[in-house]
This record gives sequence, C-alpha cells and structure tokens, in this order.
Amino acid sequence: MKITVIGTGYVGLVSGTCLAEVGNDVLCLDVDAKKIAILQGGGIPIYEPGLEDMVKRNVTAGRLRFTTDIEAAVQHGAIQFIAVGTPPDEDGSADLQYVVAAARNIGKHMTDYKLVVDKSTVPVGTADKVRAALQEELERRAVKLEFSVASNPEFLKEGAAVEDFMRPDRIVIGTDNEHATQMMRTLYAPFQRNRERLITMDIRSAELTKYAANAMLATRISFMNELANLAEKLGADIENVRHGIGSDPRIGYHFLYPGCGYGGSCFPKDVQALRRTAGEYGAPMHVIDAVEVANDAQKHVLLDKIIARFGNDLQGKTFAVWGLAFKPNTDDMREAPSRVLMEGLWERGAKVAAHDPAAAHETRRIYGDHPQLQLVDNPMAALQGADALAIVTEWKVFRSPDFSAMKAALKTPLIFDGRNLYDPASMRAAGFEYLAIGRQ
Ligand code: NAI
Repeated sequence: MKITVIGTGYVGLVSGTCLAEVGNDVLCLDVDAKKIAILQGGGIPIYEPGLEDMVKRNVTAGRLRFTTDIEAAVQHGAIQFIAVGTPPDEDGSADLQYVVAAARNIGKHMTDYKLVVDKSTVPVGTADKVRAALQEELERRAVKLEFSVASNPEFLKEGAAVEDFMRPDRIVIGTDNEHATQMMRTLYAPFQRNRERLITMDIRSAELTKYAANAMLATRISFMNELANLAEKLGADIENVRHGIGSDPRIGYHFLYPGCGYGGSCFPKDVQALRRTAGEYGAPMHVIDAVEVANDAQKHVLLDKIIARFGNDLQGKTFAVWGLAFKPNTDDMREAPSRVLMEGLWERGAKVAAHDPAAAHETRRIYGDHPQLQLVDNPMAALQGADALAIVTEWKVFRSPDFSAMKAALKTPLIFDGRNLYDPASMRAAGFEYLAIGRQ
C-alpha cells in the first residue's frame, strides 16, 4: 500500500519505518526541514533502539522516503497518517493547530480518495474537526472528492518503540464505515501474529481509549509514589509493599514502581488534556486532578530530600546527577524530572555534574552552555568531588556500579536514589548514606 505519514517525530518516524518494513511504500513528511535533511542524509534525528538500522534497510530498499514537499506527500498515500505533535496549550487542553493544519493540507492537495488516520493523541471530537477542515478546503477548491477519517491511537513506548509497533498488544481502530475498517485491517494484517490484535470501535471511543490508558498508568504511578512517601514516614519499606500487592493478579506487578515522578511527552500532557475535557463536559475526574497534583509534588522529591539534608542554600555544593532523560533508552527530555531537580539546585546556587547515556545533546539544546552544568561522558566522571549523587533515570548501566570507586570519587558517600536501584542494607554495609523513595 502507499502510505503517507505526516509528522516525522518519534511516532511518525517509527510508524512509517515499521510500515515500510512489512512492504508498504511509505513517504514521511515533515515541516521541519532540518529533520528531513538529516533523514535524507542517512542519519536519524532521535535516539530509539533498533530504529536506525531499520530506517537504513528500508531506505536502501526504496520503500521509505522523506520529504518536505506537502503536495507530493498528499498525492502519494491512499492512507494519510497524521502523527504531528499535540502539545498542551495555555489552559492544558491539547493544541490541535498542527493536526488541523495537516488536515487542511490534505484538503488542498488531494486528487483522489484518501483515508485520513489520526495517529496523534487527540481529544474526543477531533476526527470531526479534521473532517470539517478538510471538507472546507475541498469546498474552497470547488471539488467533490470522497474521504474518510479514522482514529488509530498509538501505544508505542519510547525506548521500545520499534518492538511495540512491530509486536503490538493491541491495535485500536475507530471508524465510521466498513471500507475504512477494511483498509486498516489490510494494513495491519502483518502485525497480528498469533491472534487477532485489532480492536475496532466507533471513533469517539478510540479517541478516548488512548487518554484512558495513559491516565490509568499515570494513576498507578502516582498512587505508588504517594504510598511510598507514606511508607517512609511510617517506617515501612515500599519495595516490600510493592511485592505484597503486585502478587495479587488483579493488581499485577507492572507499573508499580515508585520514583521521582513521571515525565515525558505523553503522560503529563494527556492527563492535563483529559482533565480539561472532563471539566468541559461537566464530568470532572477528581482522581485525575489528584494524579496531576501528586506528580507535580513528586518531581520535587529529590530536591526536597537534598534541602532537608543540606539546607536551602546550596552555594559551593556540587551534585552528581545520573540520568537526565525522562526514562531509560530514550534521549527525550520533555517534562523530565531531572529538569525540576537541576533547575532547583541551580536556583539555590549549586552546580551539577551530570551523565546520561543518550540525552546529553538534548540537554545541551535545552540549557545551552549553562554555567552551573557540566555534562560528562561517563557515570564515574560525574562523581569526582561531588557532595552527593542523585539518581534520576534508571538506565541499566547504573544498576551495578563499582561502589568502592564511587565512594572514593564522592566527597561524601551520599546517594539520593529516585529510582530505588539498590538494596538499602547493602548500601549501609558498604558505608553509604543511602536515601531512596519509600524506604528506610
Ligand atoms: P514530535 O514532536 O516528536 O513529532 C511531531 C512532528 O510533527 C515534528 O517533527 C513536527 O515538525 C511535525 N509537524 C508539525 N506540524 C506538521 C505539519 N503540519 N506537517 C508535517 N509535519 C508537521 O511528536 P511525537 O512524540 O512523535 O508525538 C506525536 C503525537 O503522537 C502526539 O500527539 C503524541 O501525544 C502522540 N504519541 C506520542 C508517543 C511518544 O512516545 N512520543 C506515544 C504515543 C502517542
């Protein structure tokens, strides 16, 4: 099939590449000429395990191309995926300007039937807006052309995006006609594997499903974070409690890890957008309100522990930070808890020496040459002469470090662990002061 993907970011590039991998002819469009130039030059603009090789393979095979030419992109695909960003606007609702612009471009340039698929995370009712914008452009051109709009929210996780797209748990499709459903069925047939993964439904339910999934996951995290804070005060150990409740199959072990708050490009904005929608429709979701409040507080938990230990004036202190990306295996810094920590430390006069296996260039792009930030290219280098270490992202490489070398490098053997990577008793035995989340 001929496919166009509009928006070549994390979702667009992964989706386009994986759809090419199974034999489709894919053209990816972006308005960011720099991004397209990198891709056309054989590079990739993001860090995502397994993606670079797959992009190269499909480009070489002639199944995957990149362009900034809107008209050519619209002409190409019978299916037009919209995978542009939907950032929060000032009031927290999803800003649909990029989605609507993409829809207008399709209306301006299409010359035959198109199935337009919203892959971006969009509020309920967006398919109607896409349909209206596209129809308006067709009327402006005074042409009569058929098209359908479908919803196909994306559930891939950054850091495992290729695997998630190639081997999905489920593929959610919202349509309002059988022809569109059949096209999506055909497109996704190679991804079904041993059982039916496609779940078809009406468009509004599909749109809501994505927010429901992210809000539910964010709720689990915030619940565990608050429980961890309580456990700490009560003299209990949240890791024991986590095992105790995770063993109940109704609860399960996934997504039960307490930490220093969730970040990323999805949970924070999707929780905000769902709150907005719920308020607008007069069905407030108090649980979701609380999730957001809890997470904002949790992003400060490491800073609060540091202040409790050192006081509010941190002049002359240096803190080593391990992990900057919002989670392991990505270079994505959007809404990362590390930013709240570093900015809080800088405000109080401290310096930061940080290491992240993938996000250094993103950090430089955001903070430039910040005078209180030193980025180093290995974990041990960050520790040299630092007053303490704060662990913010649970990259695998931090799990089994050389503790005696760490002790020798740090000015004080003090670790604030925002991801509960180590055993508190062993850390004490090794001579560390070890402050984790929800543990003694
Ligand atoms: P992104 O910011 O990485 O990529 C969006 C791209 O769209 C940018 O490269 C931008 O230049 C381009 N763009 C904007 N307007 C355009 C237009 N009119 N025509 C062509 N290109 C245009 O965003 P990301 O992370 O890929 O997210 C996209 C959508 O997918 C969002 O709605 C997000 O919530 C959703 N999503 C993201 C996931 C993730 O893990 N990043 C997972 C699941 C869904």
